[in-house]
Amino acid sequence: MTSTATGTADSIRSIGILGAGRVGAALARRSVAAGYDVRIATAKPASEISLLAEIVTPGATAVDAAELAGTDLTIVAIPLRKYRDLDPAHFAGRAVVDVMNYWAPTDGEQADFEADHRTSSEIVQDHLAGSLLVKAFNHIGYHDLEADHRPAGAADRRALAVAGDHEEVRGAVAGVIDRLGFDAVDAGPLAAGRALQPGTEIFNGSHSAARLHGLLVEACAGARV
Ligand SMILES: NC(=O)c1ccc[n+]([C@@H]2O[C@H](COP(=O)([O-])OP(=O)(O)OC[C@H]3O[C@@H](n4cnc5c(N)ncnc54)[C@H](OP(=O)(O)O)[C@@H]3O)[C@@H](O)[C@H]2O)c1
Repeated sequence: MTSTATGTADSIRSIGILGAGRVGAALARRSVAAGYDVRIATAKPASEISLLAEIVTPGATAVDAAELAGTDLTIVAIPLRKYRDLDPAHFAGRAVVDVMNYWAPTDGEQADFEADHRTSSEIVQDHLAGSLLVKAFNHIGYHDLEADHRPAGAADRRALAVAGDHEEVRGAVAGVIDRLGFDAVDAGPLAAGRALQPGTEIFNGSHSAARLHGLLVEACAGARV
């Protein structure tokens, strides 16, 4: 069952973002604006992206990818086809947000995801065994992250879902979603993230918390029949 998620807003103070592209940079800017200590990395050494970070994500510190392990929450925002580059040892025991999507029409078909009936995030969780992974921020475009945020209580506040097998991490990430300017809706386990994947009504639209909750309940009921 889904519900409006109430996050523990102050359990996360620092956010590490792996990937400084469209969505990674947008999340970094929103996170800086929300008052988090933000560190950002790519596969390149920090020295090679520090100028880019100064310009594109002011307030965020460029670091080497391994240094993200020092943050309270790591957001993985790289192309999904690169997920096997991630070293599971860097993520073991840590809260991780998977914003990645498998979208064959634009990214090309990938055997790992075509041949497996599970959701893309379950496959990533399998690779990052030992991490506490949730799926979130995958169903909002990078430009909407910066245009659609609203203060808590605003009538037109958009909602974002969080799915994952660890309730406390879902709650913590719900707190981040709220601080970034969106209502958080708890989608339940990671497998429920199927309803957030490309091609779904949730992925394709912008929804209030009540509507998003309703869509998740419908998807959950549909999965049972
Ligand atoms: N674009 C959106 O609006 C949006 C919204 C929600 C979710 N998503 C999902 O988020 C993911 C990223 O999308 P995007 O549009 O932000 O992609 P993007 O603009 O191509 O950016 C990808 C970033 O990942 C870095 N990167 C690539 N391989 C890496 C590796 N092995 N280790 C560390 N960093 C690596 C890239 O660095 P280099 O440039 O140095 O290669 C780049 O900074 C995709 O799975 C996408 O489906 C996108």
